Amino acid sequence: MTTIQAEIIENTIAFVKETLKNAEGGHDWFHIQRVYNNAKLIAEGENADDFIVALGALLHDIADSKFHNGDETIGPKTAEDFLNSQQVSSEVIEHVIKIIENISFKGGNVNREFSSLELDIVQDADRLDALGAIGIARTFNYGGYKGRGLYNPEIKPNLNMSKEEYKASSAPTLNHFYEKLLLLKDRMNTQTGKEIAEKRHEFMEIYLEQFYKEWNGEA
Ligand code: NI
Repeated sequence: MTTIQAEIIENTIAFVKETLKNAEGGHDWFHIQRVYNNAKLIAEGENADDFIVALGALLHDIADSKFHNGDETIGPKTAEDFLNSQQVSSEVIEHVIKIIENISFKGGNVNREFSSLELDIVQDADRLDALGAIGIARTFNYGGYKGRGLYNPEIKPNLNMSKEEYKASSAPTLNHFYEKLLLLKDRMNTQTGKEIAEKRHEFMEIYLEQFYKEWNGEA
């Protein structure tokens, strides 16, 4: 990375910290920092553009639609306005915007409309933060934020939700494990991503086993 690029990354970090200072606990600066670190780790084994990976990871949740009344344009727009204030070429800006537009798991069977190695890396990095111990913590935190129950044996997970149903779902948090989290390990793009996802997936299965035991009054 060039000195100018490193400076732009520093500016981006400052911008993201400031913008997300009141964010929900699972989508705050520390989520971004973990995704950024995951992305750097995954990128080590890939021949990707590190600058685009870094900007994509840092800006991917700058204005998540689920905290902006479902508006999917505000994130890309916020990132674009910021990048236009920096010395970033329009080519790089376009690529970063595509990453932000295409990274998220929308539920249902929605296909990605854009492909690049840099998107693959940032998407894997973000998905890893939805798995394992942190993934579990983030999921329950978000469920609490939305006023959802922990678990209700009478409400079964719905694996065939449309994008709209997925967004509007008020089902208990545990259903989210079956509707999203446990599906992620088979959707990873990169080899490094797959390997880490596998480990975190196993941890979640053990967690769920223990959860049901305790729920049912067993030790
Ligand atoms: Ni994210």
